[in-house]
Amino acid sequence: MTIPTYWKELAGNVGRRLHYGKVMVTVLGASDTGKTTLSFYLAKELLSVCGRVSIVSADMGQGAFGPPATVSMALLESVPKSIDEISTHSMYFVGSTSPVGHFLQTLTGVKKLVDRASGEGAEAIIIDTTGLVSGGAAWELKFHKIVLTDTRCIVALERERELEEILLPYKDRAEYQLYRLPVSEDAKVRSAAQRREHRRLRYRSYFSGATSKSFPLHSVCLISPYNEAVRDTEGRLYNRLLVGLNDGGNYTVSLGVIEGIDPARGEIHMLTPLKTPGDVRLIRLGSVKIEEDWNDVRIRSV
Ligand SMILES: Nc1ncnc2c1ncn2[C@@H]1O[C@H](COP(=O)(O)OP(=O)(O)O)[C@@H](O)[C@H]1O
Ligand SMILES: [Mg+2]
Repeated sequence: MTIPTYWKELAGNVGRRLHYGKVMVTVLGASDTGKTTLSFYLAKELLSVCGRVSIVSADMGQGAFGPPATVSMALLESVPKSIDEISTHSMYFVGSTSPVGHFLQTLTGVKKLVDRASGEGAEAIIIDTTGLVSGGAAWELKFHKIVLTDTRCIVALERERELEEILLPYKDRAEYQLYRLPVSEDAKVRSAAQRREHRRLRYRSYFSGATSKSFPLHSVCLISPYNEAVRDTEGRLYNRLLVGLNDGGNYTVSLGVIEGIDPARGEIHMLTPLKTPGDVRLIRLGSVKIEEDWNDVRIRSV
């Protein structure tokens, strides 16, 4: 990893802010601009000046940790050797690998994870976002994410001036610290096929220890009444559908892949790595199906 001097300066500045209290950093940028690499670097540097740092991976497509279709939170107290060694503390099921059509789920998840990180004593929270930066919808998503999380420190990675409009609310405003940084020459662009393969490997690894389990439908709620799959009365769309298994506080304790629903016995069968099905209070249906080879296929979102 190449560490430009302006990354070091950024870490120094953010570190000094910690003297005044908790720091919330949101990292913005188009795809493959180095957001995740910078978030990890910043987390490592901040751990030298405080005891607990959180990274909230708000990227449900190409997140650094946590399975796809979720937003995930990590709590770090010591420096992990690499990004791959970061383990997930909590997650929230979004149900899709893109925020498009799932803005509410994304924002709710990020807010819940930030709150939990804060409750767990994280002194610095770094929000690593998706690369969706063009158009009005992207603008609104970024704006509201920053409002909801009360982010005051914004790090923008730009190739040219592509974040100009997104950054308008924070420019020359005393309430915000805005850092506009160039993209490292070492940032590598991934093709659509590489992104797909990245997701495939993450699903495969997430479900590697999974077994088939049955959940009695009376003890959980299958909640997503407007999901496309629900309208398929023959149940074919349910098959291989990715679902989020939520606890009573609606944090997602695990993901599952539906293997079948047996209305006569009142059971839902699914593949899941979850060891304690008793924690599940609610099952949320996603908008992707996971094929046998772990490739995902989007179904029409709600
Ligand atoms: N400063 C850097 N030095 C070396 N490699 C980098 C650097 N920044 C990004 N990369 C590489 O570029 C690719 C994209 O970076 P990543 O941080 O995943 O971008 P993003 O999160 O914005 O999509 C990754 O393979 C990453 O290792
Ligand atoms: Mg990333």
